[in-house]
Amino acid sequence: MSRLIIDPITRIGGHLRIEAEVAGGVVTDAWSTGTMFRGLEPIMQGRDPRDAWLLAQRVCGSCTGVQALASVRAVERALGATIPRNARLVRNVIAGTQYVLDHVLHFYHLHAFDWVDVASALRADPAATSALANATSGWPQSSVSHFREAQDRLQRFVASGESSSFANGPWGHPAYRLSPEANLLLATHYLEALDWRLKISKIHTILGGKNPHPQTFLVGGMALAPPWGGPNRGLPGEHPQQIDKRAPAALSEASLAEIATLIAAARAFVDLVYVPDVLLVARAYPEWATLGAGIGNYLAYGEFPEDESDEPKLFLPRGRVMGRIMARVEAVEQAGVTETVAHAWYTYDNDPDGPRKPVDGQTNPTYAGPALPYTTLAGSEKYSWLKAPRYDDEPMEVGALARVLVAYVEGRDEVRAAVNRAVSALGVGPDALFGTLGRLVARAVEAEVIAVRLGDWQRQLAGNLSDGDLALADLGRWDPGSWPQEASGWSLGEAPGGALGHWVTIRDQVIASYQIVDASTWNGSPRDRKGRRGAWEEALVGTPVADAAQPLEILRTLHSFDPCAACAVHAYDPRAGGSIDLRVSGPAAR
Ligand code: NI
Ligand code: MG
Repeated sequence: MSRLIIDPITRIGGHLRIEAEVAGGVVTDAWSTGTMFRGLEPIMQGRDPRDAWLLAQRVCGSCTGVQALASVRAVERALGATIPRNARLVRNVIAGTQYVLDHVLHFYHLHAFDWVDVASALRADPAATSALANATSGWPQSSVSHFREAQDRLQRFVASGESSSFANGPWGHPAYRLSPEANLLLATHYLEALDWRLKISKIHTILGGKNPHPQTFLVGGMALAPPWGGPNRGLPGEHPQQIDKRAPAALSEASLAEIATLIAAARAFVDLVYVPDVLLVARAYPEWATLGAGIGNYLAYGEFPEDESDEPKLFLPRGRVMGRIMARVEAVEQAGVTETVAHAWYTYDNDPDGPRKPVDGQTNPTYAGPALPYTTLAGSEKYSWLKAPRYDDEPMEVGALARVLVAYVEGRDEVRAAVNRAVSALGVGPDALFGTLGRLVARAVEAEVIAVRLGDWQRQLAGNLSDGDLALADLGRWDPGSWPQEASGWSLGEAPGGALGHWVTIRDQVIASYQIVDASTWNGSPRDRKGRRGAWEEALVGTPVADAAQPLEILRTLHSFDPCAACAVHAYDPRAGGSIDLRVSGPAAR
C-alpha cells in the first residue's frame, strides 16, 4: 500500500490536490482537497444586491457568465423582479454558447491528452490520417497537407520545450491505446479548437461586451439598448443611433445575423469534429465505460427557461436519477440542499459540523490541518476548503452526465435521440454511460442539442424584436424603496460543470448573507459527517494505476468531471479584504 499525492492537479480551474491509497496497482481510497481559500461569500455582505452578479462571476474566469446568471436570478427571486422575453432569450444565448464553448474546451484543451499520445502523433502518416478523417466525418479540413502542417507544428512545440501543453506530457505511457493516425487527428483538432473558441466567443462579446465575464446583466433583464423602431423615450443621453437598425449595437440586425452565423459555425464543429472525436476515443477505451462510475446518484437543477413564469419549463429538466435506476426522475427543490463541514476547514455556530441549509449558511474558515507546507493530509480529520453538499443527506454527482440522464429518463426527445445515436454508434446501451467515458459522451451529446437550440433562441429573439417587442428590462424593482425590509431568494440552475445554486438574503436594502453551492463543490466534496465520500473520491476507487510516477489513469477519471476548484471554493485573501473577519486561526493565517 502506498499513498500517492497529486498536487496541483493541472488542466482544471483552480487549485486541487488528490491523495490516493494504491494497492496492487489499483486505487483503494481517495481524498479530494480544495487547497485555495478566497472568501467571495463574506465579501457580498453589506453590498447593494444589484451589484451581486458583477462580483459573483469573479468566482471564476473559465466558467464565465454562469455565476453572474445564477446570482442575478437569485436577487430577482428575492425582490420579486420579473424579466421580459427578450432578456430571457439573450440570457439563454449567452449561457448556451458558454456550454458549447466549455465542452469543446474541456475535451480538447483539458482532457484530450489523457487519451491522446502526442509522441505517437508525431509518428503518424498524414495520408493515412487524412483517410481516417474522411472516413470519420465530412469536416472539410481533412487534407493530407493539413495534417502534415499540423504534425510539423506539433513537432516544433515538442522540440522547443516551451509550451507546457506539449512539454512533460506522459507520452509513451502504457495506458495510451489510439493509433498514431487517431492521435494526430485529435491533436490537430486540439489546434483547430483553439481558433474555433476565439471565433465563437464573439457571441459573448456582442451580447455581453466581453469574454470572460459578460457585463450586460441587470436585475430585471439585460442592460442592452433596443436597436430600432422604438419611439425616442426622451431618456437622458438617448442617442438617435439607438433607433437605427444599422447601428453597431448588440441587437442590431447585423449583430443578430452575425450571431446566427457564429451559432451555425459552432454547430458544424460540434457535429463534424467534436462528437466524432469523442466517439473515436470511446471506441478505443471501452473499459472506461465502467471504470470511474462513482456514486450513481445524479442531480440536475436544470437549465434554459423556455418561458418567463416563476417555475418555467426548462429545456434541460430538473430532477434526480438515484442509484443508476433509469426508470424514474425524483423531484428536486432548494430546501433539499444542505452542506456539512465535518471534514472541511470551516465550523458552524452552535452545531459545528452541520448540516446547514444554504439559506442559513455560514462561511467561517477555521484551518485545522497540519502545519504548512504539509507533506500529506493523512490522519487530518478536516482536509479541504470545499464544504460537503448533500441532497436529502445523500452524496450526488452533478454535471452534463446528470443533466443528460435526467432528460433521457424524462423523455426529452432531442436528448433521447442524440444519446441513442451516440450509444448505438458505440454498440452499447444508455446504461454504458455511468462511468468515466459516459461523462465525455454526455458532454458531446449536450453540446449537440444545445447548439441546435441556440439557433432557435436566436430566431425567437430576432423575430420578437422585429415584431416590435423591444423590452429588455423590467425596472419595476430597481428602486430600493420598492423592496421589502427583508427578503430571501435563490436560484437553481446549471453551469457547464453541473448544478449551481446561489442563495441570498437582503435586509435593509443590502445583502445580509450570500451562499454559493457550485458544481465542483458537489463533485469535489470531501467526506460528509457520516464519512461518505464525495463524487470524485468515490469515482477514483478502483482506478488502475500502471505507473505510480505517472498516474495518468487518475487524471482520466478526475478530468472527466470538468473540475473547477475555483468555482467550488469561491473565497479570497483576507489581506486584501480589510475589515472582513475570516477567523483563520491555524498556520494558514500567514
Ligand atoms: Ni469555474
Ligand atoms: Mg459555498
